Amino acid sequence: MSNKNIGVLTSGGDSPGMNAAIRAVVRSGIYNGYSIFGIKQGYKGLIKGEIESLTVNSVSNKIKLGGTFLLTARCKDFFTKSGRQLAYDNLKKYDISNLVVIGGDGSFRGLHTFIDEFDDILGVGIPGTIDNDLFGTDFTIGFDTAVNTALDAIDKIRDTATSHSRLFIVEVMGRNSGYIALYTGISGGAEEILIPETDTDIKKICNKLKVGHQRGKKSSIIVVSEGDEAGHAFEIKKKIEKLVDWDIRISVLGHQQRGGNPTAFDRVLASRLGYEAINAISKGINDKMIGVVNNKVVLTPLEKTWMEKKEIDNSFVKMADILAI
Ligand code: F6P
Repeated sequence: MSNKNIGVLTSGGDSPGMNAAIRAVVRSGIYNGYSIFGIKQGYKGLIKGEIESLTVNSVSNKIKLGGTFLLTARCKDFFTKSGRQLAYDNLKKYDISNLVVIGGDGSFRGLHTFIDEFDDILGVGIPGTIDNDLFGTDFTIGFDTAVNTALDAIDKIRDTATSHSRLFIVEVMGRNSGYIALYTGISGGAEEILIPETDTDIKKICNKLKVGHQRGKKSSIIVVSEGDEAGHAFEIKKKIEKLVDWDIRISVLGHQQRGGNPTAFDRVLASRLGYEAINAISKGINDKMIGVVNNKVVLTPLEKTWMEKKEIDNSFVKMADILAI
């Protein structure tokens, strides 16, 4: 590639580890002779022309920080042709011909459309979302941290639930994906895990919880994914209350799951994916997401990352059920 200017942006919901990924793109890019430009607020800043040169020093001490120092946004304008034209014009001003987009499926859809429209712009994606819902990678940046944050909350909830002999319904994020709920539920020893990928049978759940109560369980925790087809935590509570008269409390963990310092796992994953994004660019790779499958770096066409469903491992679901008898 003759052009040596690369733009990097974070887009959509932030996720812990995005800063570590930017750092890896910047350091590895500069090492390989590229100039790296940071684009503020994702596609929003690209349309507005908020672009700045990043140096090795720009990313000092960023690896440990949650959020994204480049800021992020969900940008509707990028889904219009006129918005993308403005974005293109701004890239041309800085002579940028390669984009690295760190984000989730919405961000990748935007990138795919953009590079399809403008032949002289190439782009690669790095999976950054707490939801872990992208096909083509076993884990997305931020998922592990989000699970650990939710787990910390569940451990604390377990203490008070036990003291008061209560049933807690804990709602975790995940949009349409049950990964956060499944991993948090398994690691927190939840009695029930409700995820959109499996059918939720409230009657069956109540019967199982009753058995637990009868053998002396002092507390029960149901982890529900916000995307579960039976509803959010408050709706689940109403349904359960029709069948039993337990003391039930709700805890919706919300956006705390998106913040905080990234775990070691997320920092290593982000570093690896950022580094590999530059390797991919050096080889002229376009329209691909860099992921890790079975601990090997894998490139997946961007379109596949949202068109193909990332399945939940059913053996995990079965195991969770058996371990929570
Ligand atoms: O995609 C990440 C995520 O945190 C989802 O889990 C959640 O449904 C959504 O973003 C929340 O989005 P917002 O921060 O825009 O409310």
